[in-house]
Amino acid sequence: MTNIILSGGSGTRLWPLSRKLMPKQFLQLFDNKSLFQKTLQRNVPLSDKILIISNEEQYFLANDQVDEIGIDTDGYILEPFGRNTAAAIAFGAMSVDEDELLFITPSDHLIEDEEKYHEAIQRAKDLAKNGGLVTFGIKPTEPHGGYGYIEADGEDVVKFHEKPDKQKAKEYLAKGNYFWNSGMFLFKAGVYLKELQKHAPELYESAKRAYENSKIDGKIRRITPEFMEKIPDISIDYAVMEKSDKIKMVPSEFSWSDVGSFDSLTEYIDSETDNIEIESENNFYYSDNNKKLIATIGIDNLIIIDTNDALLIAKRGETQKVKELVGRLQTSH
Ligand code: GDD
Ligand code: MG
Repeated sequence: MTNIILSGGSGTRLWPLSRKLMPKQFLQLFDNKSLFQKTLQRNVPLSDKILIISNEEQYFLANDQVDEIGIDTDGYILEPFGRNTAAAIAFGAMSVDEDELLFITPSDHLIEDEEKYHEAIQRAKDLAKNGGLVTFGIKPTEPHGGYGYIEADGEDVVKFHEKPDKQKAKEYLAKGNYFWNSGMFLFKAGVYLKELQKHAPELYESAKRAYENSKIDGKIRRITPEFMEKIPDISIDYAVMEKSDKIKMVPSEFSWSDVGSFDSLTEYIDSETDNIEIESENNFYYSDNNKKLIATIGIDNLIIIDTNDALLIAKRGETQKVKELVGRLQTSH
């Protein structure tokens, strides 16, 4: 099995810690490890090969972090700029034998309980060997609109619904047989490519041309801009998962988070303790490498994130709006 690690997105939801050149997956917030490094460490024991699909801008960062944990990867496919996950995964699938099992994983998720994780992957491998496009279902806890929802009947999938509106998400939550799509997939390379060709032929053809015209430099395969720009910008979820009748789902019992906001991050890392608080409760403090002392009087339920050139103060429960805020920033930040 080959593990394809997707690391091309520019996650901005942890701004000001994450930046265009320092995406969320590379922040070393978890006992000095990043989500990217933890993903590698988690998947190495399960995989024969590791292939990282990223972009030119992130390559040095990724490679440094790979070296830091002393892991040997089998190579990189670098995109000049992103065209979303359907194409990135297609490049991975084109680089291996059609019967090879591919385990696709984002690089910016936190997973705990590795034994349950291994069990789920074992089951997914069996389903994938039989030709399934296997997803991993997470029991939803809120009507979150940023995830795909898998309408399941046991391991069979009735329908895949990517990023529903709030109203639909509420209905799905109430029904009980809808699961969040974890964003990880397991399938044979050839099965994915056939489904892509069937449901998104233009994307398939343009990705194939881009792959065939890519350039190899040692362990790195580079996709060139003139071919990359012809590829439609669509995720695997819309291009294939919503359309294919080969989707399967393994319900997953491991703990999973995509750490999509500071509210979520505060569940996994501790607040700084060297603050001075007077009549202040339930605040979360994080001071970046400038390690500034933070002092508060009479404020509650805030998340305070301090970095060299930007300070974020947000109400707990509202931090998903950071995305909106980043939309208004000047590019220098
Ligand atoms: N190489 C490459 N190129 N990687 C990419 C690109 C690209 O153009 N675009 C995104 N990625 C990477 C991201 O870095 C991330 O690791 C992963 O692919 C998924 O992309 P996201 O942009 O984070 O997707 P999402 O979070 O909106 O939605 C997906 O994940 C959810 C779970 O977190 C979907 O699969 C949803 O259905 C799912 O619920
Ligand atoms: Mg994501």
